[in-house]
Amino acid sequence: MILAIESSCDESALAFFEPKAGLRRELISSQAATHERFGGVVPDLASRMHLSALPLLLEDFRDELAQVNQIAVTRGPGLLPCLSMGISLARAIALATGKPIVGVNHLRAHVHSAFIELHAQDPHHFLAHRKNLLPHLGLVVSGGNTLCVKLDKDGSLTVLARTVDDAAGEAFDKGAKLLGLPYPGGALIEKYAQNGQAHSFHFPRAVPDHTDWRFSFSGLKTALRYQLEKMADTEVQQALPDICASYQEAILGQLLAKVEAILKVEKFASIGLSGGVANNLSLRQKLKECAQSNRLPLLIAKPQHCGDNAGMIAFAAWAEHHLPPQQNITPAPQLTIDCP
Ligand code: KG4
Repeated sequence: MILAIESSCDESALAFFEPKAGLRRELISSQAATHERFGGVVPDLASRMHLSALPLLLEDFRDELAQVNQIAVTRGPGLLPCLSMGISLARAIALATGKPIVGVNHLRAHVHSAFIELHAQDPHHFLAHRKNLLPHLGLVVSGGNTLCVKLDKDGSLTVLARTVDDAAGEAFDKGAKLLGLPYPGGALIEKYAQNGQAHSFHFPRAVPDHTDWRFSFSGLKTALRYQLEKMADTEVQQALPDICASYQEAILGQLLAKVEAILKVEKFASIGLSGGVANNLSLRQKLKECAQSNRLPLLIAKPQHCGDNAGMIAFAAWAEHHLPPQQNITPAPQLTIDCP
């Protein structure tokens, strides 16, 4: 039984995971509404909010505490004042209960989150067949990171592609800000885009060379700024759906182009999609078509496991430290995603 704690940014979350049954309970307290008026996450404010929210969430897990064998906590990457709140709580619980703590890398947990649903459907079948889904190509797209990662049969995670500047979620959020939409703007851009034409405006696709797997989104945001400077406010309002559709298409087009380029070079047994931007229905559809044309199963994290959550921390702690070696999931020898 694993009790997991997540506090890397602006969500305080706790989860209780039982390997034979899946995630038994998950609680999350989001600070998004508080940070919205500042246009982004304020680290000091976020850490103070974790300080009050985490003990309240723990109060709700009082009955499960006696069954806990291990405490899992996000050790990074993330905002240091926020991470330290979760780690302090984990240490306090460990001191009180005598149970061990395992530190979990937040990005590795995002990769594993694509498997949570499959495990929940049938934990026994998952144990027997997970190795058939490896090597796995994970696309992790969040507000802070954009990565293509290889999860190999020996449990190692290797970064194949990463952004050289902004993350895809950041591109959505910064674009939304330029358009006068509230933070975080990804979901709103998607909403407007649903009524727009994706080819109305031309936005650049950075790093168009298919042999170059790096992502880059900062030029796209600048292109949007230049486009808006040429338009009157009323014009922007009228064209908002078309601008959003074209801007979204440029972000998603780049994500898909890199995934397809990687699939041409390396062999995989499955594809995964996770992180906050994985909520985007258009991205889900495009990746589904890509997986189908490559005849690969696609695992997409459930919406509740796309953004920051403790369920993925518990699941990753189990997947990386507890699966028996015959399942080919030993603790990763090659820790290519690391943090202090
Ligand atoms: O995983 P997450 O919580 O980010 C980090 O903690 O790093 O995801 C948040 C990001 C934000 O940038 C948000 O705008 C984006 O995910 N996002 C979306 C959608 N829903 C959330 N982006 C595009 N379309 C969406 N539907």
